[in-house]
Amino acid sequence: GKVALLMGGRAAEREISLRSGHAVHEALVRLGVDVEPLDPDATVLERLRDGGFDRAFIILHGRGGEDGQIQGALDTLGLPYTGSGVLGSALGMDKYRCKLAWSGCGLPTADFVLLRDETDLAAAAELGFPLMIKPVHEGSSIGMSRVESVEALEQAWRAAAEFDSLVLAERWIQGTELTCAILGREALPMIRLETPHVFYDYEAKYSADSTRYHCPSGLDVDLEARLRTLALRAFDVLGASGWGRVDMMLDAAGQPFLLEINTVPGMTDHSLVPMAARAAGIDFDDLVWRILETSLE
Ligand code: DAL
Ligand code: MG
Repeated sequence: GKVALLMGGRAAEREISLRSGHAVHEALVRLGVDVEPLDPDATVLERLRDGGFDRAFIILHGRGGEDGQIQGALDTLGLPYTGSGVLGSALGMDKYRCKLAWSGCGLPTADFVLLRDETDLAAAAELGFPLMIKPVHEGSSIGMSRVESVEALEQAWRAAAEFDSLVLAERWIQGTELTCAILGREALPMIRLETPHVFYDYEAKYSADSTRYHCPSGLDVDLEARLRTLALRAFDVLGASGWGRVDMMLDAAGQPFLLEINTVPGMTDHSLVPMAARAAGIDFDDLVWRILETSLE
């Protein structure tokens, strides 16, 4: 049967999805899979229904493709697809409700305040500076900034609000940024990120040559094992499944703080899941094949 490769979409991360999609497409062709790329628009349901597909590989990032919308449509059409279902996708795309779920289960995440309008700025300032300001439903650090003062806070909130009506203010965690790729039911070797930028922003993620990736992470083996278990649990409590990536910070005292999960993480040549897979002895084509297999569950 034929595989629909869903890539592109209308979210702010469209360009990244196209890059991920091209890499996945090439791998599927090398693997001998009959694959047709589909860039979703209003006609996507008819194209999925009438295209003779028997499953879908979702490589859409951001709203519309990573948040449960396309997953629900595929469920309705009865077409199996890769990765998380509706609930895990929706919670994974919502940085606010994701943190509510984690704190509700006693999993560590930085203190936060939801910014719905100006009246919430005072409560955010009470968390103390620096703060990270983020749109609730974005990816790739789009609309994010670090602020050090009340004056900068309002400006950062307005900038983030360009992307989303809901914005999150989060206490800044000084420390090491780590990410844990998840494939099937396993956590892959963690990656430690080092950037001269203020944080691992869009440029540091996709174009800067200055970002350094450490995999193996160099962390103490027992610590890494605990963090991998934490990542699996963080993924699981949100109802996410199949594959994904859990991002976290480790502060100077060795305390982890969950940042967010990605249920359709990037698969570009700068992306982290392929890097972690390689460290586990899984090459790119093999990884793509194993992600495709998650549609069988
Ligand atoms: N949101 C981007 C694609 C990532 O997490 O890799
Ligand atoms: Mg993300």
